[in-house]
Amino acid sequence: MTQRHIRLNVNGQPREGDASPRKLLVDFLREDLGLTGTHAGCEHGVCGACTVVFDGEAVRSCLLFAVQAEGAAISTVESLADGETLHVLQQSFHECHALQCGFCTPGILMSMSVFLSECPAPTEQQVREALSGTLCRCTGYQNIVRAVQLAATRLAATRLAATRLAAK
Ligand code: FES
Ligand code: FES
Repeated sequence: MTQRHIRLNVNGQPREGDASPRKLLVDFLREDLGLTGTHAGCEHGVCGACTVVFDGEAVRSCLLFAVQAEGAAISTVESLADGETLHVLQQSFHECHALQCGFCTPGILMSMSVFLSECPAPTEQQVREALSGTLCRCTGYQNIVRAVQLAATRLAATRLAATRLAAK
């Protein structure tokens, strides 16, 4: 099948590659761009393991073809940490023991990063609802909920400190 050339921005960097029109975005990210942090689980939109941020929205990269990402800005789990410094969500997941095998974790982190930007002070129920589209076979979700709440608290404290600094 004829290959299509795709140009896009991934994690702040211009990237490009060739893919057949039927290649899934998750496979393009993993196989062609070497970004294996995004996991392929069910490959039919159920588990959420493949979630990435696509033009600001959390999307399932197994439900998109790579060619649909032409010109898009995508963030994958590799964008979260700053060198050796974990993103606040990653640090909270680590401290709350919110993962075991870790297969679901990249998708949950990306989906929660968008959720917390849209809902910065969520109730436990809102966190549970936001997590309802992602499947974890290991944790029972309790620690994931705690980790997302801890991250929300820390992000709020950071915002407050920045506001106070700006007011001085
Ligand atoms: Fe995409 Fe399961 S691999 S939703
Ligand atoms: Fe194993 Fe979630 S930590 S599937």
